[in-house]
Order: sequence, then structure tokens, then C-alpha cells
Amino acid sequence: CGIVGYIGSRSAQQVLLSGLAKLEYRGYDSAGVAIMDGPAALGGAIQVRKKAGKLANLSGELLAAPLTGTLGIGHTRWATHGLPNDTNAHPHATEDGRLVIIHNGIIENYLTLKEGLTARGHVFLSQTDSEVLAHLIEEKYDLVSGNLYEAVRQALGEVRGAYGIVVTHQDHREIVAARTVSPLVMGVGEGEMFLASDVPALLPYTRQMVFLHDGDMVVLSDDGFRVTDLAGNSVARTIEQIDWDAEAAEKGGYDTYMLKEIYEQPTALTNTLIGRLHDDTGEVNLDIDLDPTSFKRISIIACGTAYYAGLVGEYLIEQLARIPVEVDVASEYRYRDPLVSKDTLAIVISQSGETIDTLEALREAKRGGARTLGIINAKGSSMTRELDDTLYIHAGPEIGVASTKAYTSMVGAMLMLALWLARARGTLTQEAGKELLHAARALPRLVEEALEPARVERIKAVAEKYAHARDYLFLGRGVNAPTALEGALKLKEISYIHAEGYAAGEMKHGPIALIDASLPVVVVATESRLLEKTISNVQEVRARGGQVILLLSDGDTENAQHGEEVLYVPRAHEMVSPVVNVVALQLLSYFTASHLGKDVDKPRNLAKSVTVE
Ligand code: G6P
Repeated sequence: CGIVGYIGSRSAQQVLLSGLAKLEYRGYDSAGVAIMDGPAALGGAIQVRKKAGKLANLSGELLAAPLTGTLGIGHTRWATHGLPNDTNAHPHATEDGRLVIIHNGIIENYLTLKEGLTARGHVFLSQTDSEVLAHLIEEKYDLVSGNLYEAVRQALGEVRGAYGIVVTHQDHREIVAARTVSPLVMGVGEGEMFLASDVPALLPYTRQMVFLHDGDMVVLSDDGFRVTDLAGNSVARTIEQIDWDAEAAEKGGYDTYMLKEIYEQPTALTNTLIGRLHDDTGEVNLDIDLDPTSFKRISIIACGTAYYAGLVGEYLIEQLARIPVEVDVASEYRYRDPLVSKDTLAIVISQSGETIDTLEALREAKRGGARTLGIINAKGSSMTRELDDTLYIHAGPEIGVASTKAYTSMVGAMLMLALWLARARGTLTQEAGKELLHAARALPRLVEEALEPARVERIKAVAEKYAHARDYLFLGRGVNAPTALEGALKLKEISYIHAEGYAAGEMKHGPIALIDASLPVVVVATESRLLEKTISNVQEVRARGGQVILLLSDGDTENAQHGEEVLYVPRAHEMVSPVVNVVALQLLSYFTASHLGKDVDKPRNLAKSVTVE
């Protein structure tokens, strides 16, 4: 979702609408603004306008009947809780309309908070977690005798979840904001202050910016800002001069969208998992109508990278939930006259929700009587309109043609699905469920570790050393066999180096003939039940002169001797390791392609979403 805030002497409406237009790519289910028409003492009030659908709906209305005022907050929404309608759009006001908030992210314990507030007489108009937060702040506001900052701070002390939040109250000429995982940046002007979830919204007004960190709270007034932590201690944040042009700004300062999206993976994964895992019970809550015991077999259907996420899903679901799974590329599924019945659950996986092969395969499955579930990123896309159930991955917009963050989020979603099925079907004990939940929870942190500068530098050096190879081979076993396939796909997509991905154990039945001293062979050999067997496969490669690039778990010094190069990745539970391991392979192909001068965001001949057969 996108956030904009303004306090100063310009027309707030104009600043908010221009900023939201720059952020619309972050969400387009609905948009809204709250603008304060002078302080209450002077007879002013906060006016809220919000509209479902694209920003144009809201701006049309505002241009016809403008709101005056020089303090305001605005939002474009990508729905998580609650339907994308006018009521559920942001900002959310309390009943008396004196306090308004905008909130990105998810409040995990909002039902518990809502029960308490309802019991204490609060009335709710929407189904959103954001409205609960508004009421909680209102309650605190009265307790701290009208100190807005303090009210927000105390309310956040009771909240579990990930958020970016912006609050204003009609008795105060200030904006209070806070963030955990959702990004927020402040723009510093002369006698005016700006706030946004992303730099492009602020560029037309100022280049003096302050990036807020996780756990920062800030108070903006006409003549400046004050940053504290959530405990109320002052925090020093430096003002940076941003020299990016508009295009660089959209890439968040990274050279390419792909690199930006690789680095967005910890946040994307947080958004995939959040609110869905319950550590105390080992349960997963997916908020779908599907009866987990109503089918006997699963067909997973997808294209490209999404197909590889499906292959990981096959391992996870069969292992954990003991349901037979088959995985097809959509273009084959459509025409092979598949055996489908009402005992089948067909799962389609798609970033765009528009890929025609996948869409047609979905229709084929429905014709056969299957129940259908989608693992989808793009809200409201064609597939979501035809699916029985949709599990959104919430990875945010992916612009680089080669998929990165959508892949890791898809795998995260498959893991949750496998856990959910397993718990419901009694194939996983609560204890084992808790352990895996714990492993899943660790993913954002582990991926962040996988992106530590020293590791990235090392991968870059290896990528550049082998960038002139003609071919590449990628190997992996078990749940990481698809990681090898995805690694090869990424490399060929953006560097145009021919690459093959293979199950390591199968290599001896063919690709072994390709091995010579000019062939780099990347082997995913992280901790697993099959590690020893993988190392045997490595030795088969080395015995034939292949150049082995080994992916090893941190601390595995014993196996380091088997590789020409070693890339260490953070240790992870085997079942979740594909998410962590693939990051190194994404970076390897990224640096190979950029070293070769290729256009990584728009590789030749490929399209982000293929809507022709
Ligand atoms: C295209 C893209 C791939 C993507 C595939 C499936 O071929 O170039 O990167 O994996 O489509 O896209 P979807 O949107 O269905 O996940």
C-alpha cells in the first residue's frame, strides 16, 4: 500500500494526490485522503474522502469538490483484511471523526483487541484491523490527557504485527507516524514536512529525506520533526540528500528493479506469512473456505518460475500432509486430457494471475469438477475471479521480468498450505507443526542474512569469475532439486548463458557427459538428510574435471574441500531451505548478467506476463 502525509502551507489535497499517483503501483483497490481544514479552535475539522477502485475515482471526486486545508494524509490500498470497498478504504476515522489513521500491514492480534474495545463500548464500521487500531489510539488518547504522540505509542505497545501507521487528530497541528516493516520516508522542507512510503512521492517537493528505521516513531509539525523509538527515547536520524532521478527513485536507489526486488524478499516474506501462523497452537490460518479433507489428490499447475514453486510444493505437501500430488506445466496440462474429478484439488500458482496457459488450465480443471485454489500475487487478476479460493502471497508489485520475490513468497505460501493440510488431516503432530512454524517464521530473518554484504560480495566475485562460461549446470536433491532448476532458469533468462538444472542423482544418467574443465557446476549442498549423497554427486563431477561451485550451510567446513568455490548460506530447516538457498542463485545470475552488460529487468524475448498461448 502507499502512504502520503503533508503538513505546511501548500494545498494538502494537491500534494497528497500527486504523491499517491506516484505510489499507485503499490496498490489500486481503493484510495482515500483526510484533510484538516484549520485547527478545531478556529472551527476547522478533518474531512475524509475515500473511494474504491483506482485513484482516478478519488481524484475525480476531489477535483469536482476540493478539500481545502494544509495538513493531510492519504493512502492507496491493496486489500488484506476486508473487501476493497469504500468503507474499508483508508483513512479510518473514529466515530466522532476527530482522529484519523492510515495503516499499512497487518495487526495480528486485532481480534483480541477488538473484543476488548467492543466490550468497552466501541462501535466498528468496517472489518479492518486498521479501524481497531484507530479505536485503540482513541482510548489511549483520553487516558493520556490528549497527548497524541503518547496515545499512539501506548497503543502500539499492545499491538502485535507489522505496520506503517500515520495518525492525525483535529486538535493538533501535527502528524504522528511509526513503522515496523512497512517502509516510511520523511521529506524535510522549509516550513513544511512530507511523509511517504516511497521516495518518488516526495521528489517533486524536496530532496532532503530521512529514512525511518524499524521501530521508529516520528512527530511531524510545520517546522520540523522528532524521532523516537517505541519506548519513547529520542533517536537521531540523519537527513540525506537524495540525488536520484525519478526512474532511479522508483528503483529505490538500486540499479535495477530486479535487484530491488531481491532485497525486498525479507519484507515480501513477512507479508506472506504474517497473520497466518499461530505459534502457540502450531496451527495455520489461511482464511479460505476450502475444506482440507474434501479431496484425495492434488494437481499443481503453473508456468515458469511459478512451476518450480509448485515442485517445491509437491515435496512439502506429500511429505507433510501425505496427499498424492502431481505438478504440471500449464501448457501441457491443458492438452493432455488430465484425469480430474471432484476428488481433485487443483492449485494454480501465478504471480500475475493473468498467464493465459495457467488460466486455461484452471478452466480445464474446473470443467473436470476439481475444486480450485490459487496462489496468486496480483489482486483482482483474471484467475482470482474464476478460482474457488485464492491465497494471496502479498509480495507486492514485481516489475523485473525475472521473478524473484514472487518465487520465495510462493514457496512460503506452499509451506503454509502444506502445514495447514497436514494439521487438518492429522499427519503432523502439534509438536512437529510448531517446529515447522518456527522454521517458517525465521524465513524473513534468514533471507536478510542471506543478503548480508559480505555474502553478496562473494557471490558477485564468483559470478564475475565464471561469467564467460558457455554453459552452466545446476544440481540439487530432494526439496532443493527445484532450487537447482530455478537457479538455471534465472541464469538463462537474464544472462543468456545456456544452463541446465538437474536433480543431482539423475546427473549420472546424462548430463555427466557434458562435464569438462570449462563447465561450472553449481551444487546446492546445504544441510539435509541427503547431504552425503549430494557430496557423492559432487565427487562425480570433480572426477571429470568440472568446476564445482558449492552452496554450503554456514559452519560446514568439512565439505568445503569438495568445491572450487564455496558460497555459504544461512543454516535453515531443510523444509524451508529452498527459500534461503535460492537467494544466492538469484544473485549469482544477477551479477553474471550485469557483468555481461545485459538488461536484467527486460531480458530479450521474455515478457512479464504472457497472455498469448
Ligand atoms: C513468464 C515470465 C516468467 C514467469 C511466468 C509465469 O514467462 O517471464 O518469469 O515465471 O511467465 O508467470 P506468472 O505470472 O503466471 O507467475
